[in-house]
Amino acid sequence: MAAATENDDNDSLANHLKPDSEPAPVNLSPPPPAEEKPLSKNAQKKQLKQQRYEAKKAEKKAQEKEHKRKEGERKHKEWEETLANATEEERLKLIESRRSLRKERMEKRSEEKEKKMERLTKAKEIGQNIVIDVDFAHLMSESEISSLVQQIMYCYAVNGRSSSPCHLWLTGVQGEMSTQLDRLPGFEKWFIEKESRCYIEAMADRKENLVYLTADSETILEDLDPKDIYIIGGLVDRNRFKGITMNKAQEQGIKTAKLPIGEYMKMSSSQVLTVNQVLEILVKFLETRDWKTSFFTVIPQRKRTGVDPVVDCSKPEPLSEEHQEEDDLLERKKVCVEAPLESGS
Ligand SMILES: C[S@@+](CC[C@H](N)C(=O)[O-])C[C@H]1O[C@@H](n2cnc3c(N)ncnc32)[C@H](O)[C@@H]1O
Repeated sequence: MAAATENDDNDSLANHLKPDSEPAPVNLSPPPPAEEKPLSKNAQKKQLKQQRYEAKKAEKKAQEKEHKRKEGERKHKEWEETLANATEEERLKLIESRRSLRKERMEKRSEEKEKKMERLTKAKEIGQNIVIDVDFAHLMSESEISSLVQQIMYCYAVNGRSSSPCHLWLTGVQGEMSTQLDRLPGFEKWFIEKESRCYIEAMADRKENLVYLTADSETILEDLDPKDIYIIGGLVDRNRFKGITMNKAQEQGIKTAKLPIGEYMKMSSSQVLTVNQVLEILVKFLETRDWKTSFFTVIPQRKRTGVDPVVDCSKPEPLSEEHQEEDDLLERKKVCVEAPLESGS
């Protein structure tokens, strides 16, 4: 098994089920190149929508960057003016107070990093093992892989901030997936287990403890067993590969389970969640041992229906499902970036 590596500063961080008989054959070959077939009208519409969304997102990002730059400039000017209008004695006091504020902030940050490292080290020794199986890159488009990488980044940040983090693994880290993960600033120093082999090989001695989480399972996950190793499918597929993880687990002869969502809330669409949502639910459950709190904290209101008293069904959905999910992630990423993500330096 690969050893966890130590972290340093990283501020840029931030179904179809066939339960009974034979598993359905799954198309594991990469999708044909786009130029082979002309796009259907529907696909063209979808592509255009995607392009518009991307353009809007880029524009928003540029605006935010510009706003940040201007804010920095404004603050700097304000500071210079304050100094210019101050007496020599006041100037020295102002500079000194700014210096000690910075020092305090840095000390607080490094203290938080130290605590985080302690939590992660403990999780490595006795924490709940959770695996993200990233062995599906050959089935995803470049933008889907990049979206998955963002989700993994978010998972890592959420786990690091948790008071009860899990012992997080990435298995099947190879090829394009490995290339894209390596591009993440500071990835080589993440305190996480990175394993090029599949979990079935890397954890062969614990096969009876492997539990693949899949919305297609008939088994409901009532509790997390510290002895078990829970696997999340590292896929961004808008569920076009229905049942793929269920079939994989069945073929490998390992246990499966689904989250007990239906026992606590009604969903407006399917119960298939994103990788980061599943990880965050599990981490929240480790903290609270309460599924209800975990689901209500993580699952966005727009995905729930009926039972949630604060849900406002009258509001029109401004974005499509997939774009909403990206936006949820972006919003949360801002939170990750604001909080110190790394420790150990
Ligand atoms: C976006 S889903 C991938 C869906 C994919 N078509 C499949 O069949 O697994 C990402 C992963 O999150 C986990 N997951 C999502 N919803 C779940 C649920 N309701 N219960 C258990 N695991 C779930 C599964 O491990 C799944 O592979």
